Amino acid sequence: MTYLRNAWTIAAWAQELAPGALLARTLLDEPLVLYRDADGAPRALADRCPHRFAPLSMGRLCDGGASLQCPYHGLRFDGSGACVHNPHGDGRIPQAAKVRSHPVVERWSALWIWMGDAQRADPDLIPAFPFNDPEHWAVGTGSMVVDAPYELEIDNILDLSHIEFMHPLFSSDAVRRGKVECVQDGQTVWSKRFMPDDTQVPDFLRQAFHVPTGPIDRWLHVRWNAPASLALWAGGVASGTPMEQGIVSQQAHCFTPESAGRTHYFYSMAFPRAMGPMAETLAAEGVAALKVPFEQEDKPVVEAVGRRMGGADLFALKPVLLPGDAAAVRARRVLQALIEQEQA
Ligand code: FES
Ligand SMILES: [Fe+2]
Repeated sequence: MTYLRNAWTIAAWAQELAPGALLARTLLDEPLVLYRDADGAPRALADRCPHRFAPLSMGRLCDGGASLQCPYHGLRFDGSGACVHNPHGDGRIPQAAKVRSHPVVERWSALWIWMGDAQRADPDLIPAFPFNDPEHWAVGTGSMVVDAPYELEIDNILDLSHIEFMHPLFSSDAVRRGKVECVQDGQTVWSKRFMPDDTQVPDFLRQAFHVPTGPIDRWLHVRWNAPASLALWAGGVASGTPMEQGIVSQQAHCFTPESAGRTHYFYSMAFPRAMGPMAETLAAEGVAALKVPFEQEDKPVVEAVGRRMGGADLFALKPVLLPGDAAAVRARRVLQALIEQEQA
């Protein structure tokens, strides 16, 4: 399996990592331990001691997070992976006593990790999710593990024409009939779906968009950044009203492979704090409402797709292409080109 390594990807939601906690998580086939150092900054080390290979995630933090002590014979490592304490013999630090560390940055309510060349880890390359800025937005977060390749999850979000068939709650044939536009801007790919004059909008969406009666102009705009960070804007207005006046649900759908066939799915829904205390409630309820269709509707089908594909490359299987596939195909081409460039 070839991954894109020189890119930022989510390792965890920021709130998953409490001070003092050790979080073991495998990303890109590499077992990692995540924790917060004495300054509260997130750290990621390879979860394997260089002495007898005990998982450091079974150890404990010392001095408020300044070092991580191996559970087996007590070597201690700092956030850069350097051994800083050897309780054995004369206490000298053996040269080989180092663990690999990866840059981690806390931004947009998430912990972003760079699994490639640390010298190239520029935080400015983290894709923008301004609506996940906890200062100005109430952010509801959720996650799940899916037994399918991460590329299938990108396909699933970039082609929302499945909504009518897979998600009865959100169903309206307007989504399928809607006009989809695929736009590429540098290495960013957009799928923009417009659904004018929808008369079959489910009631809860009508309420969300504050349009109690009459047709609604709806849109679903999805932005993809390599390797698998997607933002979704789902909006609606009374037909004929300018889009700028619409209510928009803002979501993140970000995927990080654990392995070739297993994926960490991080999703969020955010509402501006300017709405008052209601924002917090809506974010929490909104993300809880997404959990059901994600776990009970998307997950089983996407996992079954993965099993049917049997690890084969999508294009090698010569898939039938439908209009809604354009953005997902474009994103796969961009991702493939970036991986090949990195390998060269
Ligand atoms: S295995 Fe870590 S100190 Fe021995
Ligand atoms: Fe879905």
